[in-house]
Amino acid sequence: TTRILTGITTTGTPHLGNYAGAIRPAIRASRADNVDSFYFLADYHALIKCDDPQRIQRSRLEIAATWLACGLDPERVTFYRQSDIPEIPELTWLLTCVAAKGLLNRAHAYKASVDQNVAKGEDPDAGVTMGLFSYPVLMAADILMFNAHQVPVGRDQIQHVEMARDIGQRFNHLFGAGRELFTLPEALIEESVATLPGLDGRKMSKSYDNTIPLFGTSKQLKDAVARIVTDSRLPGEPKDADSSHLFTLHQAFASAEQSAAFRAELLGGLAWGEAKQRLYELLESELGEARERYNTLIARPADLEDILLAGAAKARRIATPFLNELREAVGLRSFR
Ligand code: TYM
Repeated sequence: TTRILTGITTTGTPHLGNYAGAIRPAIRASRADNVDSFYFLADYHALIKCDDPQRIQRSRLEIAATWLACGLDPERVTFYRQSDIPEIPELTWLLTCVAAKGLLNRAHAYKASVDQNVAKGEDPDAGVTMGLFSYPVLMAADILMFNAHQVPVGRDQIQHVEMARDIGQRFNHLFGAGRELFTLPEALIEESVATLPGLDGRKMSKSYDNTIPLFGTSKQLKDAVARIVTDSRLPGEPKDADSSHLFTLHQAFASAEQSAAFRAELLGGLAWGEAKQRLYELLESELGEARERYNTLIARPADLEDILLAGAAKARRIATPFLNELREAVGLRSFR
């Protein structure tokens, strides 16, 4: 069996990038035979970037409802909140003690903050918390706790998965006594959607404020699509699909045939307004039914709570004995 694991940070409303880069590939993968999957809400990670408790709580609900609305089957998949698994922060400490500071100095998220500070002539670590610095260690604990083989993610997370490998390898070397305590994970990337562009063509991201929410109303979806930036070519003028992020967005949801037809229409001079209507219709057909399920689910938080607690119990049946093994491996054993 292949173990597949991925998580989403609960700081905002899920967008098309989360869906195409992580949720859709993860759910597809979970349906294969001989696969054991672990999908979770990274709500401890959320505390790193957000100090608004209401926003975090709302986002946890939204992301839980999103996974289920997109087709995750909680009977088949282990589906839980990170914060319901106390073994994860405990493992984080064991890993913190072997993770090289030099490795973490190179983490993109931390480096980006330092570079920004330096550019502004400020103290390099201004506003940088230990949470931000140690973020990849917490993520390594998420992954190593369940010995995941594959981690479906967008391109921005590859470095973190590689760090989890590094840290896991070092732990194996120090404490494995010749055996692989941890499985070393690999990122699972769907090339065509690994970096889905947002409204302005940059990577779709909460931090750029260029996202298309996954389950807004169909009016909100339409309005968002209308705000996609295009070039100034007029109706009737040929348009180049390869330099258009509107086309890239379309391609992420279309079949190969639909995509080829759209490319030909653009080349033939389709107006951008029409092109947006095509994209909107495509998204609506892919997401419409899931949106209805989402609206039902989000209105029943107590049911979501039950599902997640059952998932946490399932996850802990693996995490608790494994953590005991790891404690023993590092020398934290009973005196009896
Ligand atoms: P997060 O919450 O930023 O993003 C969730 C997933 O969505 C993917 N993604 C994208 N993919 C394609 N195009 C985009 N524009 C785009 N934007 C986001 C991300 O790559 C990610 O796969 N640290 C992680 C959460 C996490 C995790 C883990 C993931 C915590 N522990 C363990 C895997 C395994 C994060 O902040 O993702």
